Amino acid sequence: MASIRPLSDALGCEITGIDLARDLDDPTFGTIEAALHEHLVAVLPGQRLQPNDFMAFARRFGQPEPHVIDQFHHPADANILILSNVLKDGEPIGLADAGTYFHTDYSYLAVPARCTMLYAIDVPARGAGTTFANQRRAWEDLPADTRARIDGLVCRHHYGNRDDLDEASRTAASRLSAAQQARMDWVRHPLVRRHTHTERPALYAVSGSSFGIEGMDDVEAIALLDDLKAHATHPRYRYTYDYRPGDVIIWDNAALLHAAPLVDMSRPRTLWRITIKDPGPTL
Ligand code: SIN
Repeated sequence: MASIRPLSDALGCEITGIDLARDLDDPTFGTIEAALHEHLVAVLPGQRLQPNDFMAFARRFGQPEPHVIDQFHHPADANILILSNVLKDGEPIGLADAGTYFHTDYSYLAVPARCTMLYAIDVPARGAGTTFANQRRAWEDLPADTRARIDGLVCRHHYGNRDDLDEASRTAASRLSAAQQARMDWVRHPLVRRHTHTERPALYAVSGSSFGIEGMDDVEAIALLDDLKAHATHPRYRYTYDYRPGDVIIWDNAALLHAAPLVDMSRPRTLWRITIKDPGPTL
């Protein structure tokens, strides 16, 4: 029997009593999906999954989209990206820094991510969690005149971190090869996005891949995005989840920003990640 407990005032819940290695019946999956839509982050602790179990669960949410950084795909399934700061024979076994700045997954693609899920394999006990910020609440708290001014604006997005374009920096977006860069293009998304499943509005990707606003001078656009980012990442909207081995975490990319921690190599951290596409474009 599933039991749901909120994790913070800002966002997140823990769901216990579900074994993801077994086939989930539709009501049980519906419980997880409803909790995700309500709390935006859902953690299912104590799982023991093989790549095919993790993949089967992920597919219940939609179609997976392999990450553009293809050198760290799991050998059992390219839809699983290995996140890791571990070296084997001097070579990284995974992507060490998967966005150590506030961003939302795949906002640099025309069809962005519905949700992302991680399965924690080997994680430090403390200080290595992902930080989330609730963009639905950040939108709801804006003054009415600001909401009226920004609703309907369309942002221009590209792979990268608007605030740090130095490829050598750990707070820049992970470096792409020339071939990977060639697959990236400018895309458009609403600044205030209606959720595909709940239709609830939220600020969308005001940090990370948003580099401009259509019909607005770039200086004015960046100033507006920076103001919105400062509001939307205020500690009152944030929650950091510290992983334990066996955790599965799912987050809703349409209504959250998130940031990975900076963890040095003396503290091994390995998780598997699957990202599920939204069913359609955002505009
Ligand atoms: C991510 O943004 O997918 C990475 C999250 C993390 O490593 O904490």
